[in-house]
Amino acid sequence: MYRTNTCGELNLSNVGQKVTLAGWVQRSRDLGGMTFVDLRDRYGITQLAFNMEVNAELCEQARKLGREYVVQATGTVTERASKNAKIPTGDIEIIVEELRVLNAAKTPPFTIEDQSDGGDDIRMKYRYLDIRRNPVRKNLELRHRMAMLVRNYLSGLDFLEIETPFLIKSTPEGARDFVVPSRMNPGEFYALPQSPQQYKQLLMVAGMDRYFQIVRCFRDEDLRADRQPEFTQIDCEMSFVEQEDVLQTFEGLAKHLFKEEKGLEFGDFPRITWHDAMRLYGSDKPDIRFGMQFVELNDVVKGQGFGLFDNAELVVGICAEGCAEYTRKQLDALTEFVKRPQVGAGGMVYVKYNADGSFKSSVDKFYTQEALKLVAEKFGAKPGDLMLILCGPAMKTRKQLNELRLEMGNQLGLRNPNEYAPLWVVDFPLLEWDEETQRYYAMHHPFTAPKPEDEALLDDPNRWGDIRANAYDIVMNGVEVGGGSIRIHDRTLQNKMFHTLGFTDEKAAEQFGFLMDAFTYGAPPHAGLAFGFDRLCSLFGGADSIRDFIAFPKNNSGRDVMSGSPSPISQEQLDELMLDVRPVDEK
Ligand code: AMO
Repeated sequence: MYRTNTCGELNLSNVGQKVTLAGWVQRSRDLGGMTFVDLRDRYGITQLAFNMEVNAELCEQARKLGREYVVQATGTVTERASKNAKIPTGDIEIIVEELRVLNAAKTPPFTIEDQSDGGDDIRMKYRYLDIRRNPVRKNLELRHRMAMLVRNYLSGLDFLEIETPFLIKSTPEGARDFVVPSRMNPGEFYALPQSPQQYKQLLMVAGMDRYFQIVRCFRDEDLRADRQPEFTQIDCEMSFVEQEDVLQTFEGLAKHLFKEEKGLEFGDFPRITWHDAMRLYGSDKPDIRFGMQFVELNDVVKGQGFGLFDNAELVVGICAEGCAEYTRKQLDALTEFVKRPQVGAGGMVYVKYNADGSFKSSVDKFYTQEALKLVAEKFGAKPGDLMLILCGPAMKTRKQLNELRLEMGNQLGLRNPNEYAPLWVVDFPLLEWDEETQRYYAMHHPFTAPKPEDEALLDDPNRWGDIRANAYDIVMNGVEVGGGSIRIHDRTLQNKMFHTLGFTDEKAAEQFGFLMDAFTYGAPPHAGLAFGFDRLCSLFGGADSIRDFIAFPKNNSGRDVMSGSPSPISQEQLDELMLDVRPVDEK
């Protein structure tokens, strides 16, 4: 037997017991007469003690142990003279009688401590060492618990976990596909699924009624802190349901996770339409941990000789409570912030509502004190508040103001990672215009149903932008953690949708023929949703980046720096796959 106990479980109740532990050497201290070794495994750290006077040979052996050596130690649990209240095993130590080195280790390239001295890149290269550190290990434990909670909860509601294929047909909608060449079908390719969307709909046609899957999805898109090329969804689909049933079911799941994992209870999650979310927050995933809603000012600022406002489609601002004391330097920094290319505003106007009731603004030349008072009233501002205003084309300006609002939220400490503000965003637009390709795309995906009351608008191309979908997102703390929709189950409507998206009948049949065929064999009304599982875990872990909740993530260039993928493949492999990867001019 390699061990009788783990390194995290022994305490005073075990004193006198003979035990065997196995683990990694965290550190050793040589105090002359005594040598102490901290032995670590997944469960904790236990102190091993070696006494020079009792067993000099053993003590010598202990002194030679390097960091991260794998050792096995047998000895007796003893009460410690100087206790360590910080760890559960801190009252005891093991007086070692036998020590065996199971494996030596090179000195790790960074310290295996909660606060490591290793930078991001080196820790990614040696990810297996990084995972030995408590913070990363704890994140993976959280992920495991979350997955268990999800499975038990959904299984309890009669959802079946069903696996769907990873080698599927490439479809052009959505993000880019990762493709896999088929050796047996030269010149042909599989795609890795961006999500199991079509398969879960087929499972509904197949009568499975309630499906879920904790499933890997693959998208070849630009990466950010909350995006990985392979990520995991809690993918769900239900038959014979309306939007309300879906929202209730998955709000129930989210509440269950909050309760079990965080001990938090919530009332009904608030709901906001996409339109209101854009109007009040300039974002389809508003962070509602704090207020600072947008206030539109066209009617109080236009026509007073300030050309920038007069010519703008929208003048809109936020009120930062208690910030009238912001210095010139702070205001300049905010102006620089909105002018950064990532935000893209031309500039920022501020109005300070001074404590004495007077106003000071960057547009004093154009606006009298009375005019600024009207602006302040529109904001509901009080003396001591600071109003920040942007102007320009409506949607663009709203998005810029969203960035400023979030920045102010950060600066004012209003975005506490241990506070949770979930909400539903509903009634998304069905279609989204793309300037580059000059066509409409499905905002969610081509299987999303329009709101029945907006369905007639599909016949009027001028109104396509106004059609609302039965689509919803679940948002927490400004993060889109999930999204879904009522699906089109009617073949005629699906055909119409494909036409709207610019597909000919032939093209639609080529891409989605199997799904369309299936719908002719009795498709039940159905709907679903998918949570981004990595995002959910990082949110519960109080972190921004999903990377640390994935055992082996990719870096921002989509590379696994540990294994060195992606990598070239041999000419033999290329030949076998009939792939010619030479640059065009060499072919
Ligand atoms: P959607 O594309 O909105 O919907 O994806 C669902 C959720 O998955 C998460 N997500 C990601 N997480 C990490 N990295 C990524 N690259 C990434 N992309 C998406 C988000 C998102 O809300 N089939 C539909 C769902 C449905 O209609 O049922 C779908 O995939 O949290």
